[in-house]
Amino acid sequence: MKAVILYDSKTKGGSTEMLIDSIGQQLAESGLYVEKAKCIATADYSFIKEFDIVILGAPVYNFIVSPQLLGAFLQGNLKKHLKKKRVALFLTCWTAESMAAVFYLPQLKMHLLTNRILVEKIFHPVESSSDNAIESFVDDLLKQYERSIGSRNKSIIWSDEAQDWLEVVPGFLREKIRSMAAEYAIMNGYKEITVEMLDIARHEIGEK
Ligand SMILES: Cc1cc2nc3c(=O)[nH]c(=O)nc-3n(C[C@H](O)[C@H](O)[C@H](O)COP(=O)(O)O)c2cc1C
Repeated sequence: MKAVILYDSKTKGGSTEMLIDSIGQQLAESGLYVEKAKCIATADYSFIKEFDIVILGAPVYNFIVSPQLLGAFLQGNLKKHLKKKRVALFLTCWTAESMAAVFYLPQLKMHLLTNRILVEKIFHPVESSSDNAIESFVDDLLKQYERSIGSRNKSIIWSDEAQDWLEVVPGFLREKIRSMAAEYAIMNGYKEITVEMLDIARHEIGEK
């Protein structure tokens, strides 16, 4: 599983960078491949197609979410490439969580109306080094991701032949293959998992 953290901040080594380092480290310790990228409003965000989870994080300056992240939605192609992605959000600011949820989070969420938002959190600057706050953000994120994949996998149909094929796979591998096949089907627009699709997936995945 791959996650990318897209962030913006004017402060080198500030709260936002401390947070993304800790979040990235905890995700990596949970077995994820993690990359981070600092936003530039006009950058090309097509690279995020490689990632299963996109985490967006930024501070608030003068009542507005940091400009390069907002700009990536408004001027760049971030919105286009975020389509159908599972997203997590965090902001860092001084404002109380309840107020920030009303005034600041919507500045990002208005661009994410069709996305599944796994988790959203306001961190106060002091929490940028709080293991508990970061741990609970990462735990919630992973739980919600697993849940979203689980319900999605259940909606995929297996043909009779594909089911028969799965039955002969050793038991200890079956669930892993079931989940990988469902993931491949969804990513590639298949409504049904067939033996032919499994062959194609096997070749494609084998070649990577
Ligand atoms: C110039 C400036 C303006 C800020 N404006 C706001 C604001 O309008 N609302 C708020 O809640 N916090 C505001 N803050 C607090 C920052 O959002 C907070 O300190 C954040 O953690 C900074 O992240 P950074 O260390 O990555 O720059 C401001 C901070 C600065 C330095």
